[in-house]
Amino acid sequence: MRTALAVALMSLCACADKTSAPRVIEGADATRGLAVLERVGCAACHQIPGVAWPQGSVGGSLDGFAERSLIAGRLPNQPDTLVQWLRDAPSLSPETGMPPMPITDAEARDVAAYLYTLR
Ligand code: HEC
Repeated sequence: MRTALAVALMSLCACADKTSAPRVIEGADATRGLAVLERVGCAACHQIPGVAWPQGSVGGSLDGFAERSLIAGRLPNQPDTLVQWLRDAPSLSPETGMPPMPITDAEARDVAAYLYTLR
């Protein structure tokens, strides 16, 4: 009985954990991030909510990205990893089709903040 209760409580916690995964990036600005990702052309390869054109399909849609637990299905979707991914994806995953992007660390943090608004 007690075990069943513990298991029930544990699964409740796991649930709460998943639904509230606010990923906050200190000092980053999502609005600036949107401007950066428009400037460098992320949408040539991705559909990105908030960007009307282009809507590339090579890299897939980033709609709902904040809710995903993995980046590209294999890296933890955490701020530091995402920022590095945005600047230099091949450094994390040599075989990836996503090229290194010409953005600074600060710009990558802003872009990441924008991606974390996509629910
Ligand atoms: C030349 C095409 C290309 C460009 C430009 C590009 N990407 Fe990607 N991106 C990809 C591809 C292909 C993948 C899938 C990578 C994989 O699975 O290894 C990807 C994956 C991603 C992912 C992980 C998506 C997921 O489903 O987990 C994110 C986030 C991302 N890109 C954001 C960006 C942002 C932001 C920019 C601009 C700074 C950008 N990409 C520019 C091709 C591109």
